Amino acid sequence: MRWIALLVVGIFMGVLGTTTSLSIVAQQKHYPRALMTVMDYQLRSLAPRKAVACDPEQLQARQARLTLLAGDIALATDDSAQMRSLAGDFAAALTPLSCASLDRDLARIAESCDACHQQMR
Ligand code: HEC
Repeated sequence: MRWIALLVVGIFMGVLGTTTSLSIVAQQKHYPRALMTVMDYQLRSLAPRKAVACDPEQLQARQARLTLLAGDIALATDDSAQMRSLAGDFAAALTPLSCASLDRDLARIAESCDACHQQMR
């Protein structure tokens, strides 16, 4: 009788372990795209909007967020030396960023996004 109970527990643990590891694999597959979606959102929200004055504090906060996200690109993808280097280039392209030169700064950042996409996507 006891071995049946142990068998049931064993099967239960096996199923639990399998579903947990499968969902971890699925999350790893989704993370790069999720990260890029957030980066895309952050970049878009930096774009100047009509009738809304540029707020330097907001700008710095978003820049800090993008820098943080840039640090996750290599880990979220293949973690190759080339990816790390391109992610580093991207992080460097995030500065300087100021209201006075916003259009130019945003163009430079967008170019850096594309530079990586052209090679790694
Ligand atoms: C260092 C490399 C790198 C940089 C920098 C980078 N990306 Fe990406 N991006 C990728 C890779 C790799 C993919 C493909 C991810 C996948 O499909 O698994 C991707 C995919 C995307 C996608 C498509 C996501 C989807 O749902 O398929 C968007 C949107 C995107 N990036 C936006 C951006 C924006 C905006 C920036 C700059 C602010 C940026 N990326 C900077 C590497 C980069």
